[in-house]
Amino acid sequence: MGAYRLAVMDGDGIGPEVIASVRTLLTALNDMEPGIDLTPVDLPVGLAAYERGGNTLPASTLAALETCDGWILGPLTTHQYAGPAMPNISAVLRKRFELFANIRPARSYPGIEALYSNVDVVVVRENTEGFYADRNLLNGTGELMPTPDTVLSVRVVTQRACERLARAGFDLARRRSGHVTLVHKANVLRLGCGLFLDTCRAVAADYPDMRVDDFHVDAFAMHLVMRPRDFDVIVTTNLFGDVLSDLSAGLIGGLGLAPGLNAGHERAMAQAVHGSAPDIAGRGIANPIASILSLAMLLDWLGTTHADPNASNLGARLQTAVETVLATGRVRTPDLGGSATTADMTAAIVGALG
Ligand code: NAI
Repeated sequence: MGAYRLAVMDGDGIGPEVIASVRTLLTALNDMEPGIDLTPVDLPVGLAAYERGGNTLPASTLAALETCDGWILGPLTTHQYAGPAMPNISAVLRKRFELFANIRPARSYPGIEALYSNVDVVVVRENTEGFYADRNLLNGTGELMPTPDTVLSVRVVTQRACERLARAGFDLARRRSGHVTLVHKANVLRLGCGLFLDTCRAVAADYPDMRVDDFHVDAFAMHLVMRPRDFDVIVTTNLFGDVLSDLSAGLIGGLGLAPGLNAGHERAMAQAVHGSAPDIAGRGIANPIASILSLAMLLDWLGTTHADPNASNLGARLQTAVETVLATGRVRTPDLGGSATTADMTAAIVGALG
């Protein structure tokens, strides 16, 4: 029997609300599948952990993470994080544990009013370096202030990171339509994006059955908005991927429907695309679907990594339950035009699991 310890970390803002839904789903899934044992391990992180113990990422949490098979992290109010006692948890975990590919699908759902129907794209975003200052350098940030009126933001691009990201993208595409789009800005960022593009193209040579194209990120933003159905797997650098995945979510009905997985060779962490949504936090109206679908992605990853069909099947059942609830249209949180609460949506999905 597959037995998995899953770290569950609330995060900030709407984090405790949407992660409560994930806990409910974990219990329901555990009860319905005798061939699998999912044990949630609650670990403190974020502003609540800082209030209690003086650090957003306690050493005890880091140590406990090592003992878990998969992790689930809620969103963080990162704009309030400052100083060494408030490390950006996502950034630290992604870099330290080499969760190098941030896989962010955006799919249309029947019954959801959106700009398009039949969209099915996945952004595969580099997750450990790039322009994000807090994950660029070994110690300290990649932003420097030589004089009070000047800031230098350093971007790191390594061949190793580009190569493993490209392989993750091509492997994913092989299980989908076989189409990979590389997105870059090599016409201006000639060295950094040049290295990214050259490395991805070299990896493409190992996947001769794939269709590969590439675009400058500015033009691609237009193409993605105007003809999203022409794309499938989008492989890109950190900052571009962050922006394009929110854009993709906007095409299919919003951030409430956009899941994500931070994946490495050894570990994976489920984490929705959205942030901590301070504008709606504490009201019980956040859409939990992005986090629930992130759990489904983690179960699928566990199934693939451990050759455990029970885990993959559970992920697929969860995905189907969400689709069923969305298709019937009876339960809609406010972001989807309804008045259901987070708890209503969670209960509906549990019900649809059958
Ligand atoms: P955001 O993603 O939190 O919110 C953008 C908009 O989407 C808001 O109107 C919000 O209400 C809505 N929204 C987001 N998730 C939703 C959900 N599940 N259900 C319904 N509506 C939802 O982005 P924003 O406002 O730019 O950032 C807020 C905070 O989150 C900042 O501190 C930012 O740094 C942080 N952030 C953290 C991320 C993470 O931890 N993974 C990712 C992005 C932002």
